[in-house]
Amino acid sequence: MIEKIHHIGIAVHSLDEALKFYRDTFGLHVHAQDTVQDQGVKAALLTIGSSEIELLEPLSPESAVGRFLARKGEGLHHICFQTPDVDGDLQALKEKSVELVDQQPRRGIAGMICFLHPKASRGVLVELATPMEMYKAPE
Ligand code: CO
Repeated sequence: MIEKIHHIGIAVHSLDEALKFYRDTFGLHVHAQDTVQDQGVKAALLTIGSSEIELLEPLSPESAVGRFLARKGEGLHHICFQTPDVDGDLQALKEKSVELVDQQPRRGIAGMICFLHPKASRGVLVELATPMEMYKAPE
C-alpha cells in the first residue's frame, strides 16, 4: 500500500555539478550519498520536506542511467513510492500481471526497492521502496 512519494529520481551527468545547484543554490540537505554498484550509479538523496530528490550519475555509459542520459539527456528519470511492505506489494503486482523490471526487491539507496516497467505506468518509471528502518524481511 503506497503511503507517499518517497523521492523523485533525476538523471545527471555529474553528481558534483548537480549538487552545486540542489545542495548549494537551493540549500537542500544531503541525507545520504552512495555508490550502488549493481545499479551502476553514484547517487545522493536530498531531503525536501517529507520527501526526497535522488540525483543519479551513471558509473558507465552502458548502465541503465547511462543509456537513459544518452537517449534523453538529463532530467526526470523515475518516481518512487514508499510502501511499508515492498515484498507484499511486488507479489500483489505480479498476481495482477503488471510488467516489472525487478522480480525481487533488492537493496538500493532508499531501502529495499524494486522497479516496475514504465509500460505498466504510462511511460513513467516507477520504483517502490521500503526504507530499511521500517523493512521486515518476509518469513
Ligand atoms: Co530511486
